[in-house]
Amino acid sequence: MKIVKTVEEVRQEVKAWRKEGLTVGLVPTMGFLHEGHKSLIDRAVAENDRVVVSDFVNPTQFGAGEDLESYPRDLSRDAELCREAGASLLFNPEPEEMYAQDACTMVDMSGDLTTELCGRTRPIHFRGVCTVVSKLFNIVAPDRAYFGQKDAQQLAVIRRMVRDLNFDIEIVGCPIIREEDGLAKSSRNTYLNSEERKAALVLSRAVAKGRAMAEAGEKDADKIVAEMTDCINQEPLARIDYVKAVNAETIVPVSVMEPPVLMAMAVYVGKTRLIDNFIYKG
Ligand code: PAF
Repeated sequence: MKIVKTVEEVRQEVKAWRKEGLTVGLVPTMGFLHEGHKSLIDRAVAENDRVVVSDFVNPTQFGAGEDLESYPRDLSRDAELCREAGASLLFNPEPEEMYAQDACTMVDMSGDLTTELCGRTRPIHFRGVCTVVSKLFNIVAPDRAYFGQKDAQQLAVIRRMVRDLNFDIEIVGCPIIREEDGLAKSSRNTYLNSEERKAALVLSRAVAKGRAMAEAGEKDADKIVAEMTDCINQEPLARIDYVKAVNAETIVPVSVMEPPVLMAMAVYVGKTRLIDNFIYKG
């Protein structure tokens, strides 16, 4: 597996693969890889001849006061995981390689997809995500790109962007990977101290409670949200940003469990903002 830092090197590699008629998968990441990322890489390796993993903490998707500077980084560990999983190329650009100093073009999506849920407290987040993912799509030009269902809103945003901008790329959504005790895997879990780590289990408990109600036939989305909210509020270290029911494709809020419904939450545990969700497919 090669590790490259420039757009030109990625293009040369991909061009050579294309000449041989090989298919290409892309796994966009911000690094500090864990089992969740590995599941995306495994799937990409199974479905494509060559796999590019991008490892780039994208500054344009972090708002003022967010954790851009402290976001965990460990390139050599990431490289090891990618190599073992069978990736062909690890793209680890510096911010200056991805963004010219006078760059002034962004990909901006309007409406509930980007203003609801995480968009309420992170107003510039999805503009940064859409911009960097478009750039990665243009740099790698993959056949398929892989994203985790844990970032369900991001997945819906990217699917819509691909449709709206006619990217000829199949978007593959992959299931949430959890720790044995239920906590959804996230690079941000490393911010939690041991007390917070225990408290963070309230997210997966609320997910389990909501899912059980939905599967038992509860049709009132507000009732499910209320139960999940109650469950989270019982944990003193947890502070809710949102718990909400939305249509999983449009991110428009719903009050009836008409599938596909995304039950999504963002919860601060101490200073760490964690997300979790489930999708009710009927
Ligand atoms: O999900 C992430 O890690 C990031 O938002 C992504 C898709 C790699 C874009 O920076």
